[in-house]
Amino acid sequence: MAKSRKAATGAAGKKGAKVKVALIGAGGMANSVHYPSLVEFKDVKIVGLCDVMQDKLQATAEKFGIDKTFTDYQKMIEETAPDAVYALMPPHHVYDVAAWALKQKLNLFVEKPLALTTYQAKTLAHHAEQNGCITMVGFQRRHVPAIVEARKMVEKRGPIHTAVGIFYKDAPEALGYYGGAIDILTSDAIHAADLVRWLGNSEVKSVASDVRSIGRDFPNCFHALITFESGMTGVLLANWCSGRRFYKCEMHGSSIAAFIDPDESGVVYADNGATEEQIDPKALGPGDQPYHYLGFWQENRHFIDCVKAKKQPTSCFSDAVKSMELVDRIYSSTM
Ligand SMILES: NC(=O)c1ccc[n+]([C@@H]2O[C@H](COP(=O)([O-])OP(=O)(O)OC[C@H]3O[C@@H](n4cnc5c(N)ncnc54)[C@H](O)[C@@H]3O)[C@@H](O)[C@H]2O)c1
Repeated sequence: MAKSRKAATGAAGKKGAKVKVALIGAGGMANSVHYPSLVEFKDVKIVGLCDVMQDKLQATAEKFGIDKTFTDYQKMIEETAPDAVYALMPPHHVYDVAAWALKQKLNLFVEKPLALTTYQAKTLAHHAEQNGCITMVGFQRRHVPAIVEARKMVEKRGPIHTAVGIFYKDAPEALGYYGGAIDILTSDAIHAADLVRWLGNSEVKSVASDVRSIGRDFPNCFHALITFESGMTGVLLANWCSGRRFYKCEMHGSSIAAFIDPDESGVVYADNGATEEQIDPKALGPGDQPYHYLGFWQENRHFIDCVKAKKQPTSCFSDAVKSMELVDRIYSSTM
């Protein structure tokens, strides 16, 4: 067990010092989006990588030029004394790792969803608060440059009055995720619910929903009408028995509307169609790889900047709890 640490950030807050990051997990998301982003940041030093699977550990260390490798994350933390930790593994594996790291006063990034249940998410947020940790859950849709740009354009004319989060996949046989460890809405469709909540920019006022199980015994279709204290109405349209993976976001404001498909295209119409501005999502990132324009590079940048500035990211654990609570309300208010 690592010795008791002072609240995190150490040298990271000092001018010119690199943020020392230790990485747990050498899986899919780590290799495809997070570590490629981190190695592009000149102010980040990767001090160690841990995975329980030797082959993945070595391949990932080689790919990203990481010298120190470990199969025991507690040993890695003791030896490398990082400013921040990434724990990138499925939600049924992450709880113990995350709870331990928070109790060591470590700043922590995890993927969505924060936990299997809202109760677990709340206890992690509690540990984070008790130990003064900077935390972030990877809700990268909040950071997609095309969505951020469109939101700015719409909000220039006043508040968004209506937002639509659309997320479809074609997986009619899916038993939730990870062999049924977690349901589709909490594990993945939560992306679209969180995006609507982020655009609503306030507490949820009411939820009316229609949750269905199409062709099987487990819910795979989630429609919801969500009202917010801000006055915005959010619409969630998500199902896992559609024609293909498709994700889109709509924002409607005062005589202006944005329609963004971050994988493909975006357009903003205003004044009854008098103006029409195209947004090319792929042109707005710092490079041409999907992680550059789908919000991953930007969410990692946001986390590192927050660690340096000692402030909480937009999707810190206590905020991510609210998206879990929204998921609970979508289930409990089904008609
Ligand atoms: N943001 C997104 O769009 C998006 C997309 C897909 C998946 N995800 C999320 O990313 C997370 C990770 O998914 P993935 O597909 O990258 O996982 P993965 O299974 O590919 O990788 C997880 C890795 O963690 C390792 N691991 C597990 N427990 C460990 C421990 N105690 N110590 C050290 N290593 C350990 C495993 O050996 C594995 O290599 C999930 O929560 C998933 O929901 C997010």
